[in-house]
Amino acid sequence: MRLRYIEDQTEAHDTPLLALAVVEGGDAANGYLKGGDPAIRRAVAAAMEMGDATGKTSDEVVLYGGEHGPVRVVLLGIGKADDLDAETLRRFAGRAVRVAERLKLESLAISLDGLDGVAAEAAAQAVAEGAGLAAWKFTELQADDEESPTVLVTSVDLVGGEAEASSAGAVAGAAIARAVNFCRSLQDRPGNVATPSHLAEEAARMGGSVGLEVTVFDEARMREEGMHALLSVTRGSEEEARFIIMEHRGGEEGDAPIVLVGKGLTFDSGGISIKPSQGMEEMKYDMSGGAAVIGAMQAIAELGVKANVVGLVPSSDNMPSGTATKPGDVISSLAGKTIEVINTDAEGRLILADALAWGARMKPAAMVDCATLTGSVIIALGHHAAAVMGNDDDLVHELREAGDASGERCWPLPLWSEYTKQLDSNYADLQNIGGRPGGSITAGAFLKEFAGDAPWAHLDIAGTAWGEGKLSYQRKGGTGFPTRLLVEWVRRRAG
Ligand code: BES
Ligand code: MN
Ligand code: ZN
Repeated sequence: MRLRYIEDQTEAHDTPLLALAVVEGGDAANGYLKGGDPAIRRAVAAAMEMGDATGKTSDEVVLYGGEHGPVRVVLLGIGKADDLDAETLRRFAGRAVRVAERLKLESLAISLDGLDGVAAEAAAQAVAEGAGLAAWKFTELQADDEESPTVLVTSVDLVGGEAEASSAGAVAGAAIARAVNFCRSLQDRPGNVATPSHLAEEAARMGGSVGLEVTVFDEARMREEGMHALLSVTRGSEEEARFIIMEHRGGEEGDAPIVLVGKGLTFDSGGISIKPSQGMEEMKYDMSGGAAVIGAMQAIAELGVKANVVGLVPSSDNMPSGTATKPGDVISSLAGKTIEVINTDAEGRLILADALAWGARMKPAAMVDCATLTGSVIIALGHHAAAVMGNDDDLVHELREAGDASGERCWPLPLWSEYTKQLDSNYADLQNIGGRPGGSITAGAFLKEFAGDAPWAHLDIAGTAWGEGKLSYQRKGGTGFPTRLLVEWVRRRAG
């Protein structure tokens, strides 16, 4: 999709659709109208006077009749000025794109005027993100309907705002939307396409085009390095595991890196502790954390973030077979700790254990992992927030703030030592499950044992990485969560 910023409104006059925001209780609070087409101005005023466009977030009024300006205008309510935030603007832009789709239009313009309350740069970024995410659709495995071909929006112009700030925001928002959409493509691809080697190839291809150094370990290399926890998970699968390393050198040489780790479990059958077949097809999204790290690294490189950032993705299938790891097996790990595998379905923490141990060796300034780790996080927080936990309260706080700003929220859970105690094993240094009570926390407590001394935090995204497409800018399937959060957090840290 092409996304442009245009300062001069008159250049957008020939757009087939212009989206304008209407604030509740305001007048036609939109600078666009000041210089706009008098016919449109009259139509907008009438829609407001007649109470059709009140500014409520459910409001949507399409108007026709522009003479010198756009022929179609859609007024979209964005609620009260005091409540306005970046997330409202993402949804506003998403709704504008959905209106265009319904009208079978391939392009539209969205006005940045009248969005006071959110700083111009953040507003343009949010609108660009919302539009870029809404326009995307996963179509690569389906033939198009010849009778009524899908019309997708391929071009969005952002108009108005404040030239310098708005154009910077639009550039960032467009890069972030591309990164999230890349993540969503990887998520939506089925397990027979998005294999560990596919993720590695995609990361390498992406890295080549944006200037990241990408290194991929095969199983022989993992064995040499001692990544036995990762290897224990892939034992049951015919697909070869991969360990993907992506490096962005945007900081000073020698500056401690920020390390991002993502679970890249390309299909989770549960292994010998096999899952029920109902809904098992969705376990292709168990690589969402890895996809988000790959996507985030793309945006970090494209935006030239001034920090050293390393992305790590341990990637494997989890399958049952005669060679698969069995319940009761004791395995070793890169950190040297032995693990009793009580349940082979608690595999994410095993592949992450080795990735975190690898990351810890780099003495990172901070390390954050994200993983579709536990079903219990869905019981705790539903689909509206990820859980965040870690060994450093400041880091957890930073992630919560980046989550609020990016619209990908996270909420803290404690990692007290009592939870770690639940992982005591009779036969090994620790076991891989801690029972049903506090299931998301004991998973986090397990990871903590492998993160070393680095400030570290973990995001459990099992409830947020996949969805029904409830928000205007989403569709059924992968949400890209937490690509936006990670990029926001890294950009804030880089200053
Ligand atoms: N990938 C799953 C977690 C998951 C569940 C992700 C639902 C998305 C939706 C993970 O590997 C898993 O199977 N976790 C187990 C842990 C249990 C065996 C301790 C779970 O949550 O049931
Ligand atoms: Mn599992
Ligand atoms: Zn899993």
